[in-house]
Amino acid sequence: MYSPGLEGVVVKETRICHIDVENSKIYYRGYDLEELAARSTFEEVAFLLWRGRLPGRSELEELKSELRRGRRPPKHVEYLVRAAPPSAEPIDVLRTAVSAMAWGEDLSDKSPEAELRRGLKIAAAMPYVVAAFDRARRGLEPLDPAEAESHAEYYLWALRGERPSGREARAMDVMLIIYAEHSMNNSAFTAVAVASTLADMYAAVTAAIASLKGPLHGGANVDAARMIEEIGDARRVESWVDEQLAKGRRIPGFGHRIYKKGPDPRLKVLRELAKELAAERGDFRWVEIAERLEEYATAKLAAKGVYANTDLYAAVIFRYLGLPVDVNLPTFAVSRVVGWIAHVLEYRQANRLIRPTERYVGPVGLKYIPLEERG
Ligand SMILES: CC(C)(COP(=O)(O)OP(=O)(O)OC[C@H]1O[C@@H](n2cnc3c(N)ncnc32)[C@H](O)[C@@H]1OP(=O)(O)O)[C@@H](O)C(=O)NCCC(=O)NCCS
Repeated sequence: MYSPGLEGVVVKETRICHIDVENSKIYYRGYDLEELAARSTFEEVAFLLWRGRLPGRSELEELKSELRRGRRPPKHVEYLVRAAPPSAEPIDVLRTAVSAMAWGEDLSDKSPEAELRRGLKIAAAMPYVVAAFDRARRGLEPLDPAEAESHAEYYLWALRGERPSGREARAMDVMLIIYAEHSMNNSAFTAVAVASTLADMYAAVTAAIASLKGPLHGGANVDAARMIEEIGDARRVESWVDEQLAKGRRIPGFGHRIYKKGPDPRLKVLRELAKELAAERGDFRWVEIAERLEEYATAKLAAKGVYANTDLYAAVIFRYLGLPVDVNLPTFAVSRVVGWIAHVLEYRQANRLIRPTERYVGPVGLKYIPLEERG
């Protein structure tokens, strides 16, 4: 069977995430994502995705304190992050840092407990790594706001150097929940493909970050942020979109391999969140651009099965939260790492080396001509 882009190919059975395209619903372990976004926390969702059930109170506390304890990465990783040139892309620094977290650790134990422990270590340290690099390139010392209660609060605080408001911390928490998992996307598949060789969790997550970087995947959230900045005013949306399409370019934050009949179900939550943040700041400029874009570009592209995706409003939300544009992408990784870990653990339960095949369409039997006769 030949399926370009592996479209429609089932690589594993899963209990992690169900996307009900018909009814525009996403479920994490059977729970409606909209309800999780409204009522739970990132830490609770991490437990749910990893363990398959919601945590009890003490289990949640334990996970939270494990994440808190792991916030500072090993010393050599701190040095590495601070040695990166300011021109480095934050996603590349994060990828290298996660890879280096493997250094010095005995990786022979590949049991689910050992791999989850590694996953937790990576997830816990990611906010510090991203924030420390962003501050270092601005000539600032890293921060470790140890008293920050949640992962989301810690991340925002470490990045910005000031305690976020309750609404801001909650907005980041919702972003981390929404981005945490989305079935067999390219980075999840990459993590699983690497893990299927029995390479360790550090290797799988490093590869997944590399996959996330591409503009057809996570990189679109940076492109969407740049687009919104470039447009600058909702009144310019139409002319900007027309110009891009006339040049044959794609509009970032639009289109999805799965959602061809309607918008991404997560959009509703994100649109509302963007509006709430706009109201808190008394600055509606960015959300107005996104809404106008959603309306106008959808009218132009829906016939091709192209609708707005999460990156459109994520760009607006991260802007209101004060993130530098290129930090949007590692922020996606700070969240999605939870899903990658869940997929690796699930796949390993019935591991089989991923090794697809291809159809050879080139020539055979060519006559070898010695170099000196080739001219
Ligand atoms: C995500 C994406 C790669 C999905 O691609 P896909 O399922 O392979 O869809 P295709 O590339 O087959 O696109 C189908 C048609 O829609 C068009 N299209 C897809 N996304 C588009 C976009 N964002 N803007 C304009 N046109 C788009 C394609 O050009 C193609 O048109 P054609 O048939 O005239 O050639 C694609 O929509 C995209 O590049 N989006 C922009 C980047 C982005 O936001 N990525 C984040 C995804 S979560």
